[in-house]
Amino acid sequence: MAPPTPPILNGHSETVIAQTCQTYNLTPSEFAQLRDRAVAAKATSYSPYSKFRVGAVLLSTGKVNAITGERTTASESTYTPGANVENASYPVTTCAERVAFGRAITEGHRGFKAVAVATDISPPASPCGMCRQFIREFCELSMPILMFDKDENFSVLRLEDLLPLSFGPDQMGIEGAA
Ligand code: THU
Repeated sequence: MAPPTPPILNGHSETVIAQTCQTYNLTPSEFAQLRDRAVAAKATSYSPYSKFRVGAVLLSTGKVNAITGERTTASESTYTPGANVENASYPVTTCAERVAFGRAITEGHRGFKAVAVATDISPPASPCGMCRQFIREFCELSMPILMFDKDENFSVLRLEDLLPLSFGPDQMGIEGAA
């Protein structure tokens, strides 16, 4: 049986935000930043073919030193944005989530606390299958993925709910970059 569709929650209700933050270990300020930055990232979409804009933002709290491999916890949260980048050769298109992760990973960011995506539709769109697998490489299965709709209302699910029985770095015998 398919899992139940998650409810669409009010993205500006203080009560809803407080509840969501408690469940997913975020602060109300982090929630607001994720919402506003995902929506802002949507405006940077290059999508002349589909005209389907997607914005993504990643909240991380750590860094890795590219030379020594040393991991540090950053004193401040970092927000890395991305948007979908389309191509005249359609399959070459890259989704917003993978643009954001490519940027974040190559900038050394690690320790992702949450991912947010924003689109112009309702109910909110969720990351495509390829993006779910891409995210799996770098994030804990319990990490929340916030999905904002055209009105900035949202659904939220953990990565493990979007990608059950997943295949990741652990199956390949490495610790992974989560
Ligand atoms: N898209 C994303 O950016 N992320 C997803 O998870 C789903 C799809 C983009 C790709 C393409 O530019 C447009 O949305 C329509 O498929």
